[in-house]
Amino acid sequence: MTGRVQRIAILGATGSVGSQALQVIDRYPDRFQLLGLVCGRRPAPRPAEVIIAGGEPDFDARLEALVTDSRCDIVLVAIPGAVSLRPTLAALAAGKTVAIASKEVLVMAGQAVMAAVGRPDQLRPVDSEHSALWQCLWGESPASVSRLLLTASGGPFWSRPELELEQVTVAEALKHPRWSMGPKVTVDSATLMNKGLELIEAHHLFQVGLAGIDVVIHPQSVVHSLVEFVDGSLKAQLGNPDMRLPIGLALAYPERLPGVVEPTRLDSLESLAFEALDSQRFPAVELCREAARRARGYPAVLNASNEEAVAAFLAGRIAFTGILAAVESALAAWPGGGGEDLAAVLAADTFARNHFRERLVKVST
Ligand SMILES: NC(=O)c1ccc[n+]([C@@H]2O[C@H](COP(=O)([O-])OP(=O)(O)OC[C@H]3O[C@@H](n4cnc5c(N)ncnc54)[C@H](OP(=O)(O)O)[C@@H]3O)[C@@H](O)[C@H]2O)c1
Repeated sequence: MTGRVQRIAILGATGSVGSQALQVIDRYPDRFQLLGLVCGRRPAPRPAEVIIAGGEPDFDARLEALVTDSRCDIVLVAIPGAVSLRPTLAALAAGKTVAIASKEVLVMAGQAVMAAVGRPDQLRPVDSEHSALWQCLWGESPASVSRLLLTASGGPFWSRPELELEQVTVAEALKHPRWSMGPKVTVDSATLMNKGLELIEAHHLFQVGLAGIDVVIHPQSVVHSLVEFVDGSLKAQLGNPDMRLPIGLALAYPERLPGVVEPTRLDSLESLAFEALDSQRFPAVELCREAARRARGYPAVLNASNEEAVAAFLAGRIAFTGILAAVESALAAWPGGGGEDLAAVLAADTFARNHFRERLVKVST
């Protein structure tokens, strides 16, 4: 082990990523110390020097104070959605290391976030696919990379081509075949929007053009993603689906944590399969690629309308197929913004949420 104990703030501590991060921190007390916890509606899972609960009147101010606190070394951002944008920017501006799980932040404001990164590896991926790409890229020259390949499990409906997606229930959409995650990302996995959001995330994080990123269906979720090089070589990162590995790597980089997860036993694996994405049935990835290509607020509109639509689906207010329809409607209505700075991104976000709500009223009256 090198260096002193790292003091960590967890945003989204009661969630799936947050609680697994707490397990990692507890397991390596000589490396990590918990400084602060930010929760939503559930109570804090344990004591910490700083505890902030969602809905507190001075929530935003306390959150900013925590992520810029001189005692804090690493901020783990794991609150889904646009709410994580401001604390991420504040933490980066204060020079903190940011371990980013909340892909929505890079989707809506990739340029602003990357502009706030002050040193290599200050912003570290937690998403398992991006962690895999990060690991495959270590020691490689950007000029030798020809393509990034994001793997996707396909979610619960990929292997059921006969199923009418219109009829899908909330309970069915929340049954992910491989990962146990929070509701928003689980529904995003079922629409494959999650993979589209990850494509935009990878585009910003690794500064690779959109045409150089592809998606391949890999139902076993053992190969977490791959990099293709100009000589035709493919490099992949494999492991059991267990988020403690990418979380641990984002916290401990450049070290690896001994025993953070069980080793992957190749002789116990099912055979590994890869299939092309069916963009007719699951158009979300191409919708995301196109929004990112257009930039000028389109990714923020896509993200915000998807957040609103997923929440409405979970509340039983729209059908599963209504999620993509809502995103398409918001993108079609957006006139295109002027820039990629924070104010422009927030304007696009507000536009999309208002558009969604007005459309929902029209559709349901
Ligand atoms: N779960 C995974 O395996 C996984 C993998 C890769 C990437 N990610 C990404 O990581 C992020 C977190 O996912 P997750 O699955 O951990 O989500 P989750 O289980 O739903 O947890 C979300 C956390 O954020 C808190 N929260 C939500 N809204 C809040 C608000 N307005 N103010 C304060 N706290 C709020 C929740 O608090 P309460 O529950 O207390 O209300 C909870 O602690 C997502 O962006 C997701 O895409 C997740």
